[in-house]
Amino acid sequence: MIVKAKTSLTNHAPLQGKDLECAIRNAERQTLSLLPRFAHGYKYSHSVDGFYEPPTANVEWTTGFWTGELWLMYELTGNMAFRRAAEWQVEDYGDRIVDMIDVEHHDMGFLYSPSCVASYKLTGNRRARTYALLAADNLVSRFQERGEFIQAWGRLGDEGNYRLIIDCLLNLPLLFWATDETGDRRYAEVARRHLHTALKLVTRDDDSTYHTYYFDKATGKPLRGVTAQGYRDGSAWARGQAWGVYGTAIAYRYLKDEESFSVFSRVTDFFLSHLPGNGIPYWDFDFTDPSEEPRDSSALAIAGCGMAEMARVLGDCDDSRRLADLAARSARALYEECAVKDPTVSNGQLLHGTYARSSEFNTCRNRGVDECNPWGDYYYVELLARLAKDWNPYW
Ligand code: GLY
Repeated sequence: MIVKAKTSLTNHAPLQGKDLECAIRNAERQTLSLLPRFAHGYKYSHSVDGFYEPPTANVEWTTGFWTGELWLMYELTGNMAFRRAAEWQVEDYGDRIVDMIDVEHHDMGFLYSPSCVASYKLTGNRRARTYALLAADNLVSRFQERGEFIQAWGRLGDEGNYRLIIDCLLNLPLLFWATDETGDRRYAEVARRHLHTALKLVTRDDDSTYHTYYFDKATGKPLRGVTAQGYRDGSAWARGQAWGVYGTAIAYRYLKDEESFSVFSRVTDFFLSHLPGNGIPYWDFDFTDPSEEPRDSSALAIAGCGMAEMARVLGDCDDSRRLADLAARSARALYEECAVKDPTVSNGQLLHGTYARSSEFNTCRNRGVDECNPWGDYYYVELLARLAKDWNPYW
C-alpha cells in the first residue's frame, strides 16, 4: 500500500451524494456573490475579516486562482456568466506577460495554469495558449544550470535569492503542458531536472520537507534547507508539505517515474499522520492538539487534490480507492469545519487559512492569518469538482 498512515481524517465520512451537491450549491452562491464586482478584478491575496474587498489589479502570484475558480464554476454549473468573466480575465494575463508586469518570479504556473491553460483546454482559445506559452518561456528563463534548479524569487543570480522552494512543484505542470502542446522538449527537460533536484533536497529522512533550499552561486553546490513561511528551518510548514503531495502526484502523471511516486507516498504519509483531531492542519506541523495556533485549511485542500489526482492516475486498484476515499474525507472535513455557509460571515469559500505567520525563527510578517485566501478557495472548489465529475486537470 503506498499510503499507510493512520489519520484523523477517518473521523469524517466521505463527502458524497446530497451533501456534495449541497457543498457545490453553497460554493456556487459564494462565487456568484462576487461576480458583480470581481468580473474584471481579482481577489486580494487574503481576505480581511473574512471579506475580499476591494477587487485588485492582476498583480502578485495569486490572481490565477480566482480566474480558475470561475472556470471551475463554469464547468460545474454551465453558467455563461462565469465563463464570460474568465474570458475577459484571460486577456489581462496576456497584457501581464507581454508587458512583463510583476512576473520576475517563478509563479508562472500558479498564474497561467488555472487561467490560460484552463481556457485553452475548455474552449480552445488560441490566444490563451499563446499567453501560457509565453509564461512557460519566462519560467524556463529562471533555470539555473549551476545547481540545476528554477530560482524562485528575485533578480536572477542574486546571491540572497539563489534557492528553490517546494511551492515550485505546482509551477512545473505549465512546462510539461508546454512540451505536450508544442513538441519542444526544452520545457519538460527543465521541469524534470528541477524536480529531481528539489525532491532530492527538500525531502528529509522523516518524510517531512524543507520549504526552501539554498545553493552556492559560484559552484551550484547545495548548501542548506531554510524556511521562509514555516515555524523554523527544521519544521514542516503545512502548506509546503501539501505542495509536496500535489506536486509529486502531478509530476507522476507526466513522468511515471519512481522518484515522484516514492516521494508522494512519503510526504503524504507524513501529512496524513500529523493532522490534528478535526483534520484541519495547524499552519506548521510543529503544532499539535491542543494549540491556540491558527490552522491552514488551504493545506488540506491542496493535499486533498493531490490524493485525488494520484487516485485518478493509478486507475482501478486498492491504492487508488484508498486515496480517493481520503480525498473525499478531506472534502468533508473542509466542508464541515471551514466552508463558508453564511454569506454574511465571509465572501470567500474557505475560512481558517493562513498565508504567513511570523515566528521568532522565520522571515515573514503576519499576513492573512485565520482568513480566506484565493488558493484555499480555488483548491477547495477543485476538490469538489473532482468528486462531482471526471475532471480534466488544468495542471
Ligand atoms: N506559494 C506561496 C505560498 O504558498 O504561500
